[in-house]
Amino acid sequence: MSLLSILHFPDPRLKKIAAPVTAIDDSIRRLASDMAETMYEAPGIGLAATQVDVHKQVIVIDVSETRDQLWTLINPEILESEGVQVGEEGCLSVPGIYDKVERAASVRVRYLDLDGQEQTQTVDGLLAVCVQHEIDHLRGRVFVEHLSQLKQTRIKNRLAKQARITA
Ligand code: NI
Repeated sequence: MSLLSILHFPDPRLKKIAAPVTAIDDSIRRLASDMAETMYEAPGIGLAATQVDVHKQVIVIDVSETRDQLWTLINPEILESEGVQVGEEGCLSVPGIYDKVERAASVRVRYLDLDGQEQTQTVDGLLAVCVQHEIDHLRGRVFVEHLSQLKQTRIKNRLAKQARITA
């Protein structure tokens, strides 16, 4: 296992559209396991392959406090969504920035698990937010792009300033 480096907004590679996984082989299992390690180490509650510059439809999620409920979704697709919730979101690709985003309250998601079995699950609350946030990444979208242009400009300026300080 190894830690992967995470792209930071507004890196243009975060805008790439991830391709569906055609075969769940050792390279995909290795990718999912490295992504999980990277997410736990960060620490974060979700990570999409796009964020580690691999443009395949793989996401890992763990919203549990005990950090032992790893959920890996390959080729995830939202079949249905219901209701509205607004919650404060953050992202490992946008360090230090948190803002309110409107999401569906519950989603029904279809995906392949690491054994290549098709699964369908309905989730709500934080898990639903996380699924929508990570699927956005696979489509080249970062959560701050749900915010106003003014806020996005402020965030870019703040991140550029942080990068200068830490460089
Ligand atoms: Ni994110």
